[in-house]
Amino acid sequence: MRLFIALALPPELKSALTDAQRAMAAQGVKGNYSPEENLHLTLAFIGEVPDAQAAAEALEAVSFAPFPLTLRGLGRFDDSFWAGVEPSPALDALARRVRRALAKRGVPFDRKRFAPHITLLRRASKDPAGIAVAPARMRVETVSLFRSDRGKTGMRYTELLRVPADRTEEDA
Ligand code: 2AM
Repeated sequence: MRLFIALALPPELKSALTDAQRAMAAQGVKGNYSPEENLHLTLAFIGEVPDAQAAAEALEAVSFAPFPLTLRGLGRFDDSFWAGVEPSPALDALARRVRRALAKRGVPFDRKRFAPHITLLRRASKDPAGIAVAPARMRVETVSLFRSDRGKTGMRYTELLRVPADRTEEDA
């Protein structure tokens, strides 16, 4: 099975993201828009593994305090477009902890530098222009293990495990 660890996003963030997608579509930008239910922010891409057990144990071992996260801007990798987030040392630290926990249990993952992004559109037919992503804000209170399957109409993501922040470590 194909696994990754990511932040699930609350409705306020998703609505800012789908607004940006609609604005791109309204400009006639065609391509593979991420369906709303698929929008997420990946912390570690594990890829193909025989089962989810070691990844689940790694995620269960991660402890972090809740922290705020705010959307910022539209970015691109080739013909894919994504929403970014404001620089967040807490987010970077969470990704580091997740990756360290995976490494400790021998779970493979993509070692590319963590570049937080939420993919909105792949294979864009042309470049969108002047798209604003509203600076919607969330509180990161959980982190999730997802399984990814190729469905008839695109990728389907299934949340296998959701681990809460450690509330005793609450930040302000
Ligand atoms: P992307 O949106 O930029 O493609 C599930 O595929 C999630 O894992 C996506 O958020 C994807 O990022 C991310 N990811 C990170 N590294 C990946 C890799 N090497 N292959 C596929 N997906 C990867």
